[in-house]
Amino acid sequence: MKSAEQEIEAGERFAFGANWQAFLKTLNEDRIQIAEESLKELLLEQDLQGKTFVDIGSGSGLFSLCARRLGAKVHSFDFDPQSVACTNELRSRYFPDDEDWVVETGSALDEDYLKSLGKYDIVYSWGVLHHTGDMWQAVENTLLLTKPDSKVALAIYNDQGLRSSFWLQVKKMYCSGTIGRYAMLILFIPYFSLRLVVASIIRRRNEFATYRRHRGMSATHDWIDWLGGLPFEVAKTDEIRIFYEVRKFKLLNIKKTRGLGCNQFMFQRER
Ligand SMILES: C[S@@+](CC[C@H](N)C(=O)[O-])C[C@H]1O[C@@H](n2cnc3c(N)ncnc32)[C@H](O)[C@@H]1O
Repeated sequence: MKSAEQEIEAGERFAFGANWQAFLKTLNEDRIQIAEESLKELLLEQDLQGKTFVDIGSGSGLFSLCARRLGAKVHSFDFDPQSVACTNELRSRYFPDDEDWVVETGSALDEDYLKSLGKYDIVYSWGVLHHTGDMWQAVENTLLLTKPDSKVALAIYNDQGLRSSFWLQVKKMYCSGTIGRYAMLILFIPYFSLRLVVASIIRRRNEFATYRRHRGMSATHDWIDWLGGLPFEVAKTDEIRIFYEVRKFKLLNIKKTRGLGCNQFMFQRER
């Protein structure tokens, strides 16, 4: 199996961690509180006191931080060492030397590693499993971390048919090298910006400033993540729902997207 660095070098993987490092420069209390609210909303929980929480593909570490702030004992891991460094950076900034927050390098596709982690009250993997290179195996592997009553919260890219195939080509071009990257940035960043300008005019509010309402994220870093985010797979909402339901998980929450981006799910395993 190749390392994240080898896959990035080969043009098969986006440098997620480098993008998260840039995002961390924008992180402030306002964004953290918005992220925390979005976590509570998806999990249908007001706090996580006494709960165990595993963050599969922790990225910037923001949602591990939120879970820890809400009282959970947190285990974060990511395949990209730079994402791991980001999560470690947040741990040292906000919870230095905390024994209840472990940060590691690990893969959602490494069954032996997952089996070594034990079982969790909450298994959280937002926007990750479709970036592993084997989405359905990664979805299956989430089960290894569950026990009766566990909640599983996931966000998976929406299957838009031909449009998804188009975006896959864009991502391949972005990751192919410097020329491909700049070509995609020059083509699409003005397009995404124009859409926000038009939305700002129609809604009479600054949509650039309010973008952070999406889980505390930043528009430019999300756009770059979207343009480069390889590996890339997609699923229809029913495919994910049925996968968990036949394995005795109950769908407690779903937030569907109408177009680009992720559908969000929260399931609970039956007793
Ligand atoms: C779009 S980011 C999402 C980060 C975070 N979950 C969030 O909600 O902000 C995707 C993350 O998944 C990580 N990732 C990709 N493949 C992975 C794998 N096989 N195992 C663990 N993490 C992986 C990437 O390195 C990246 O940090």
